[in-house]
Amino acid sequence: MLARIPLAVAFSPSARLFAASASVSRSVHSLPPLPYAYNALEPHISQEIMTLHHTKHHQTYVNGLNAAEDAYAKSQSTEEKISLQSALKFNGGGHINHSLFWKNLAPSTGDGGKLADGPLKKAIEKDFGSIESFKKEMNTKTAAIQGSGWGWLGYNTSSKKLEVVTTANQDPLLSHIPLIGIDIWEHAFYLQYKNVKPDYLNAIWNVINFKEAEQRFLSASK
Ligand SMILES: [Fe+2]
Repeated sequence: MLARIPLAVAFSPSARLFAASASVSRSVHSLPPLPYAYNALEPHISQEIMTLHHTKHHQTYVNGLNAAEDAYAKSQSTEEKISLQSALKFNGGGHINHSLFWKNLAPSTGDGGKLADGPLKKAIEKDFGSIESFKKEMNTKTAAIQGSGWGWLGYNTSSKKLEVVTTANQDPLLSHIPLIGIDIWEHAFYLQYKNVKPDYLNAIWNVINFKEAEQRFLSASK
């Protein structure tokens, strides 16, 4: 292809700039569509929260991740690469966590809040004693996070057990395989629940998609 382009054009500064940016462009991440309407989780999570959370907050992590990956690809020195680590972790984690979060919610008129008899329910009862004990532990540990973060039901691949763990900021869960994540950043609840985190944490169980969590559990534990 290049041979058909006049040399003066092919080697012009703008052509070289285009070739350089095309070869290192990493703008591959995009906002996944929400698998339900913005008002579908009401009254438990309001339309206003879902709209802002998805179109503004998650989009910002996507943009930040693309920018950080572009900058990393173009960086010339180890120092530059190291300086980008926190942006990659923060925006990459934000994108991963929210992509998972939308799928682990569902309208209460559908799959939301319903934990049917099956392998996940059995495993929760085995590892936590009861469904109520599990929810209580998850809510207590998630509410206790200082600042912003995530509460998780994770599968420990070493012990083969389900465990409740937390991560700070937008750190993704890497020590376990995430089955259910609860976003405890203020942007996830404040417009509706103000400072009362326990009300948000109690309400969210009405829209947790246990069917999705069970699929993740089955694939994690096989
Ligand atoms: Fe969030």
